[in-house]
Amino acid sequence: SGEVDNSSKDEFQELLQTLEQRLNWDGQRLIKYNGFWLLEVLFRPMLSAQNNFKAKDTDVILSTMPKSGTTWLKALTFSIANRRLFTIDQSPLLTSSPHTLVPSLEFNVYWEQENPDLSNIPSPRIFATHMPFNILPDSIRESDCKIIYICRNPLDQFVSHRHFLLENKIGKEADPLDVDEAFDMFCQGIHPCGPFWDHMLGYWKAHLENPGKVLFLKYEDLKEDITSQVKKIAEFMVFPFSPEEEEQGLIDHITRLCSFESLSNLAVNNTGNINGLVKNSSFFRKGQVGDWTNYLTPAMAERIKKLMDSKFGNSGLMF
Ligand code: A3P
Repeated sequence: SGEVDNSSKDEFQELLQTLEQRLNWDGQRLIKYNGFWLLEVLFRPMLSAQNNFKAKDTDVILSTMPKSGTTWLKALTFSIANRRLFTIDQSPLLTSSPHTLVPSLEFNVYWEQENPDLSNIPSPRIFATHMPFNILPDSIRESDCKIIYICRNPLDQFVSHRHFLLENKIGKEADPLDVDEAFDMFCQGIHPCGPFWDHMLGYWKAHLENPGKVLFLKYEDLKEDITSQVKKIAEFMVFPFSPEEEEQGLIDHITRLCSFESLSNLAVNNTGNINGLVKNSSFFRKGQVGDWTNYLTPAMAERIKKLMDSKFGNSGLMF
């Protein structure tokens, strides 16, 4: 464990200078790395994770693009993994943010430290990341740890992200661009973790190659039938619900605890922030499918549809 030393700081600055840069529509700096536009603030922590994170076979890694259901998936997987340790009434989710209980590699674990000691975290450790599949630390791909990916209809993801960034005003250096310009950048793939199609396809292909390693979920499917999705997640985590647990209604208790209504009404999720940048409350807006219709035109939707048709091709991925 240790602070970032000066020689690695210099190397980092040198690397940064070789990369293409853009401002996101909200003024935050993006850099292009291995084909993906990444928020510059998260780049050093991502490299630290790449260099130093050692996955254990029992780890569970939650991978998402921002605004695709990360908070929900964190709450669900935490509850599934720890259900024999805490009753629902005593769940740590009642008093801690899902983002505290399931830390993000780049936003929490490696945010300030280049190589923190993670050995004391009890198994199964659950971490989240927004890293594209090809940028993940090698040990995540090479160990027997599990990866759970969740994604969401890009139109809803775009609208959700726009609200989130406007609410948090992180990119202070510029006036935010209007929705048309922001959408145009999104369609060009220039957005945090973009292009969205490559982020999704990376995990989709990994899932097709090895479904026991990568579970591929969609926000819309969780909204439609949370019970069957929670069962599926638990089976994938090799911790399926027993018949007794099912009879006791444990799946329902977990889905209710982790619902938008329940989590968004807890004081811990209504107050405070992460790293002084992101309000806890901003992770809970509407939690609905199809909210894009209130903000985007049919022509915009058509543009995304054509984009998805051409990018997803016959991969089998669709929304
Ligand atoms: P909206 O902005 O459309 O409401 P992330 O957790 O990846 O940052 O994504 C945030 C999105 O998920 C927001 O979408 C938020 O409201 C929604 N969300 C957060 N918690 C949820 C939950 N428990 N159930 C369903 N949706 C949830």
